[in-house]
Amino acid sequence: MRLEDYMPRFAQIEDIRIETDTEKTFTMRLPDDDPGMVFTPGQFIELSVLGAGEAPFGLASSPAETHVFQSTVRRYSAGVVTVPLHRMQVGDFVGVRGPLGNGFPLKKHAGDDILLIAGGLGLPTLRAAVFYLLDRRDEYGDITLLYGARTPQDRLYKHDLETWSHSPLLQCYQTVDVADENWDGEAGYVSQLVEKLQLDPEKTSVYMCGPAVMINPVVEILERMGLTDEQMYVNMEAHMKCGVGKCGHCLIRDKYVCLDGPVFTYGEVKQMQQFQDAI
Ligand SMILES: Cc1cc2nc3c(=O)[nH]c(=O)nc-3n(C[C@H](O)[C@H](O)[C@H](O)COP(=O)(O)OP(=O)(O)OC[C@H]3O[C@@H](n4cnc5c(N)ncnc54)[C@H](O)[C@@H]3O)c2cc1C
Ligand code: FES
Repeated sequence: MRLEDYMPRFAQIEDIRIETDTEKTFTMRLPDDDPGMVFTPGQFIELSVLGAGEAPFGLASSPAETHVFQSTVRRYSAGVVTVPLHRMQVGDFVGVRGPLGNGFPLKKHAGDDILLIAGGLGLPTLRAAVFYLLDRRDEYGDITLLYGARTPQDRLYKHDLETWSHSPLLQCYQTVDVADENWDGEAGYVSQLVEKLQLDPEKTSVYMCGPAVMINPVVEILERMGLTDEQMYVNMEAHMKCGVGKCGHCLIRDKYVCLDGPVFTYGEVKQMQQFQDAI
C-alpha cells in the first residue's frame, strides 16, 4: 500500500489554460519534498476540491516531469467537482491522490509500431503517451496519432496538434464530425482515418481512449486489417469512487476498473461488455 494512493496531498495550481468552452487544463505543482507524480501514461489521479468532493481525471502531461503535472477537466453543469474546479484560480490548492491504475504497457511494446486513437476527451491520456514515446523515439517503430473531435473548436491541445502534425517524428491526423468554413482538414469519424492506414499487423500495438461509440467501429476495421484483440488496448471509463479497489463502484464481472485497469486489452473489454449486457 502506498500512502499517496489513499491520502490526498496538496498540489498548487500553477497555470490554467482554457481549451474549449467546457474544458480547462490545470497545471499543478507538488512540493519539492513530495515523492512526485511518477506515472505510466494511462494512469489517473483523484483530484479533490476542499468542501466539494473528489473525481478521477487522466494525467495529460509528460511523465518525465514528476513534480509538475497536468489534467484537462470538462465541466458538467451541476458537476459536484468539476464546477468548483473550474472556478479555481492560479495559486489555489487542490488535493491529489495517485497515480492510480495500471497504464499502457509501453515498455512491453518497445520496438513496435504504436497507433494511438483518441476521441474527444480521450486525448489527454494519450497526450501523455505521445510525450513518453517522443522522449524514447529510437525505441519504437512508427508512431501514429489519430484524433477525432466534434468540431474544430472542440479540439483539445490545438497547439500540440499543430506541432505534431508538422513533426517528422510521428504522424498525426485529425478529423472533426462537423466542419466549419475555416476548417480545411478531414471531416467525418475517426474510423475513416483508420480505414486509410497502412499497418503492419505483425508489429502494431494500438492504444485507444474515447467513447464506446468510437471504439467498436474502430476495432472492427483493425480486426479486418489483421490485428488481434490482444494487440488493442482500451482505456476504459467507469463510475469510480475510491479509485483503489475498495468500494466496488467500478467492479465489472471480476475486474475493478480502477485497480485492474483502466487499461484493458480489447479481449478483456469484450468479456466485460458481454457481462454487462447479460445483467
Ligand atoms: C479513469 C478516469 C479518467 C477520467 N479522465 C478524465 C479527464 O481526463 N478529464 C475529464 O474531464 N474527465 C475525466 N473523467 C471523467 C470525470 O471523472 C467525470 O467527468 C467527473 O467525475 C465528473 O465529476 P462531477 O462531480 O463534476 O460530476 P457529477 O456531479 O458526478 O455529475 C454531474 C452531471 O454530469 C454528468 N457526468 C458526470 N461525469 C460524466 C461523464 N464522464 N460523462 C458524461 N456525463 C457525466 C452526470 O451524469 C451528472 O448529470 C475520467 C473518469 C475516469 C473514471
Ligand atoms: S472505484 Fe472503488 S473499487 Fe474501483
